[in-house]
Amino acid sequence: MFITLEGIEGAGKSCQIKNIVAFLEARGYDCVTSREPGGTPIGAQIRGVLLDPVNKDMDAGTELLLYVADRVQHIRTFIQPHLMAGRVVVCDRFFDATLVYQGYARGLDKDLIRRLHQQVCDNLQPDATFLFDVAPAVGLGRAWRQIDNGGRTGRESRFEQEVLAFHQKVRDGYLDLARREPHRFHMIDAAQDIESVRRSVEQVLARLFS
Ligand code: TMP
Repeated sequence: MFITLEGIEGAGKSCQIKNIVAFLEARGYDCVTSREPGGTPIGAQIRGVLLDPVNKDMDAGTELLLYVADRVQHIRTFIQPHLMAGRVVVCDRFFDATLVYQGYARGLDKDLIRRLHQQVCDNLQPDATFLFDVAPAVGLGRAWRQIDNGGRTGRESRFEQEVLAFHQKVRDGYLDLARREPHRFHMIDAAQDIESVRRSVEQVLARLFS
C-alpha cells in the first residue's frame, strides 16, 4: 500500500505523517516513511539545490527535471523495494506535487509532466492520497512561524518566498486533481486544530484498512 500526503506549505503534513504511522503500526502494519524531494541520499543533495533561496533564478524546466530525477531514484531504490516487501510506504509529497507546483502553478505543460512520469517513473500511482487543504494565507503564516522558530531552515525557504498568488494556484491545482480522482484523494480540512485533523485522518485510515 502506497500512501501520499499533499498540500500547500504549512498544511501540517509532516506532523500528521507521524500519527498515520502510529495508527497503522498499532494495528500491526509494517510501515516506512519518506518524503520528496530528498527521500534518498542522492535525493537529499538534489533537495539542497532545489530549495536553496540562492537558486532563485532556477529555470522552471531545470526545476521540473530535478524533481523528476529525485523521484526516479526514490522509486527505484526506496519505494518499490519496500512495496515489494509488503510494507506500507507513507510519503510526504509525490507526483501530484509536480503536476501542481510545476504544472498548474509554474505553467509547464501538464501532459509533458504526465508523460515523463509514465516513461521514467513507471507511472507509479499512490493507492491513497491525503490532501491537507488550507487557505494559503493560513498555511504560509504557519510555515513562516516554523522558519522563525527554527523548526525549518531558512536555507529551505525558496518556495515560502513565492507570492501568495503562486500558492493560490497550487491550492487550486490540488483541488482540481482531487475533483478528477475522488476515489484516490481524501480531503482533510487542515484549517482545523491538530487534534481534529488527526481524527479526520484516522477516520479515513479506518475505512482504507478495514
Ligand atoms: P516540503 O517543504 O513539503 O518538504 O516540500 C519542498 C518544496 O518542494 C515544497 O515547496 C513543494 C516543492 N515541490 C515541488 O515544487 N515539486 C515537487 O514535485 C515536489 C515533490 C515538491
